[in-house]
Amino acid sequence: MGIEKVGVVGFGAMGSGIAQVCAVAGFHVRVRDVEQRFLDRGRDRIAESLARIVKAGRLTDEQARAALGRIHGTLALADLADCDLVVEAVVEEIGAKNAVFAELDEVCGPAAIFTSNTSSLTIVEMATATRRADRFAGLHFFNPPMMMRLVEIVQAITTSDATIEVLRSFVSRLGHTGVVSRDTTGFIVNRLLQPYLNSAVRLLEQGVATAEQIDAAMKLGLGHPMGPLELIDYTGVDIIYHIGNIFFEEFRDPALAPPSLLRRMYLAGRLGVKSGRGFYEYDVKGKRKT
Ligand code: CAA
Repeated sequence: MGIEKVGVVGFGAMGSGIAQVCAVAGFHVRVRDVEQRFLDRGRDRIAESLARIVKAGRLTDEQARAALGRIHGTLALADLADCDLVVEAVVEEIGAKNAVFAELDEVCGPAAIFTSNTSSLTIVEMATATRRADRFAGLHFFNPPMMMRLVEIVQAITTSDATIEVLRSFVSRLGHTGVVSRDTTGFIVNRLLQPYLNSAVRLLEQGVATAEQIDAAMKLGLGHPMGPLELIDYTGVDIIYHIGNIFFEEFRDPALAPPSLLRRMYLAGRLGVKSGRGFYEYDVKGKRKT
């Protein structure tokens, strides 16, 4: 089965990035969010990102306009009825995700494949809430999806090999690289990333080095584009804190539990770039001040 029409549920940072990647690759995309202002904000975010790509000479103005024209926002999940593939990117809560999938299961055709962009939840728990557990998988993009070329394709114990093959071919049509992972909490990247980010916060807590020194060390010493504390600010302190709790719940490994400082930053609303302050301070455009 080939994929032509893609549905995306949730038009936040990840949903808008995923919609953008699909539209640039030539797919028609229907995106659903719950309020018009979220649809407007997602569209603005895509237009801004496309403008940067045009400025960098990687797309023409015309290609960017055509891609934007292939994205249609809607407030009704029923408008995703004729999609061949749906990527869910709503909040990282099993109840919210399963409610979306239960509704989609009623409106979409039986052959449609459902996927979740979850970072930390269990795919089989969503798959079994639908009547298509064999056509259900994880499809995990990285932020920002236009720049990060990896997609983890997650095979739950219920996912058929045929579904994985369709998703492999879809991901390569996006110009991205797919790696297949089993449905274990955190898959490959976050399973390795989470203890690394926690360790960086613990080094800071223990006064081993300043935030700037920790970030400079990892950028210059290992060639990473961002240091670990910058990456937490970029991804969101709330997201990393929330993922840490889910990981600890699953594995009971203290290395995966969110460090005290991260919890306190979360409670203080120091969420990183989006709140203007995390390990560093940012202006309203998200540019680093300190
Ligand atoms: N859209 C389009 N183009 C973009 C872009 C975006 N969102 N972000 C960056 N670019 C392009 C632009 O051409 C930009 O040039 P301009 O600033 O002139 O427009 C160019 O990249 C360089 O960008 P920056 O100067 O902003 O900075 P940079 O060179 O550091 O690149 C970055 C930005 C690509 C984000 C890079 O810092 C990076 O790769 N960081 C690591 C990101 C990462 O690790 N992501 C994974 C997070 S974990 C995750 O997502 C999983 C999870 O489940 C939590």
